[in-house]
Amino acid sequence: MDHFRYDEAGVLHGEGVSLPALVAAVGTPTYVYSRATLTRHFKVMDDALSGVDHLICYSVKANSNLAVLQLLASLGSGFDIVSVGELHRVLAAGGDPDKVVFSGVGKRDDEIAAALRAGIHCINVESAWELARCAEVAAAVGVPAPVSLRVNPDVDPKTHEYIATGLRTSKFGVPFDEALELYRTAHASPHLTVVGVDCHIGSQIVEPTPLIDALDRVLELVDTLQAEGMTIGHVDMGGGLGITYKDERPAPPKAIGEAYAARLAPRGLKLLVEPGRVIAGNAGVMLMRVLGRKSNGERTFVITDAAMNDNIRPSLYRAWQDIVPVQRDLDAPEEVVDVVGPICESGDFFAQERPLARVDRDALLAMRSAGAYGFCMSSNYNSRQRAAEVMVDGDTWTVIRPREELTALFASERLLPDLPAGRSFEG
Ligand code: LLP
Repeated sequence: MDHFRYDEAGVLHGEGVSLPALVAAVGTPTYVYSRATLTRHFKVMDDALSGVDHLICYSVKANSNLAVLQLLASLGSGFDIVSVGELHRVLAAGGDPDKVVFSGVGKRDDEIAAALRAGIHCINVESAWELARCAEVAAAVGVPAPVSLRVNPDVDPKTHEYIATGLRTSKFGVPFDEALELYRTAHASPHLTVVGVDCHIGSQIVEPTPLIDALDRVLELVDTLQAEGMTIGHVDMGGGLGITYKDERPAPPKAIGEAYAARLAPRGLKLLVEPGRVIAGNAGVMLMRVLGRKSNGERTFVITDAAMNDNIRPSLYRAWQDIVPVQRDLDAPEEVVDVVGPICESGDFFAQERPLARVDRDALLAMRSAGAYGFCMSSNYNSRQRAAEVMVDGDTWTVIRPREELTALFASERLLPDLPAGRSFEG
């Protein structure tokens, strides 16, 4: 459930805020997030896990805007980070370092050091070399590194190949049958403290079975580790819960939470999870304006002022995201169109052969389910300024990232000193 709804006049609102009114002030393209929806999603997740001692570590990569992190921190969330940049964001947003886990396939020494100095809860280690780096950096920093190994349970999450991570063939995690040996190494090191076991099998998972199978495999390992005298405080099941983009019927978090709790609570194990999409995905829309239309005889194109640089998911994964008019016109005829951006790539599309009520120049469109992996994957490709981000809250709103200034595009670039400089552009 989210808080983007049409009013009786057919005007799309974010909570109590009229989106055309918001656009009149902020322009397009603009991402709009709903504070009530983010809060609700966090609470649904928290409630789903109430049968077991748990910590939700929101996956920062899904939507890393400081205000989003600040809101989630205020609700008690921890954070799953994958870079020192994300660590900085979490700290700047008021996150508690003791609730931070550090994931990722390859961490640099300086990132490991920064994490240890900040006092994070756990580093999720993905390979033998990374474990060795953690030990060496920990020795230099003078703080033992709290570690879990991310094990690869070889479970098929049944999702898009780019976001499936728990198969034997993927680059992620430590192969299951090598994990025990590496845990022994970690346990024997004076610079490492084993604190848990971690896994993450993929993203946009809609069936509960792969997640529960993965936990069962992880628990086999936990039994062995405990039998060898290691103290395992937590099991981290990663993120991955799917959402409804179109007609998916994802397993409710409650069902998964209960299955997790039934396995973990009797063993006194704490559960960590790293949800991203399920919290942020349907808490956001991306607003864009129609620049014009054209037809090539076979296809009709609706050209918008947003493009693949603003939201790359349709281009990169052929992801389907709903596109709706901001002002609904029930009399408008339905047509089949491609919704495309202005970028010089055929891959720059948001929808292909999509039935849509007719929209003309200047109409506003909203791309739904854009709160996760939307703005945070955006770029300046084609020297396009990045979109604005706004948080609505009841009938008020806050610009949480203004649209990028034209001058910011190359403010950090430098001309060669021996060639003539250019001129500024009043534009
Ligand atoms: N934990 C780890 C270790 C991860 O790699 C990820 C996502 C998460 C947690 C959060 O997963 P979630 O709950 O959001 O499914 N850009 C892609 C998704 C990439 C996911 C990468 N890892 C997309 O737009 O679909």
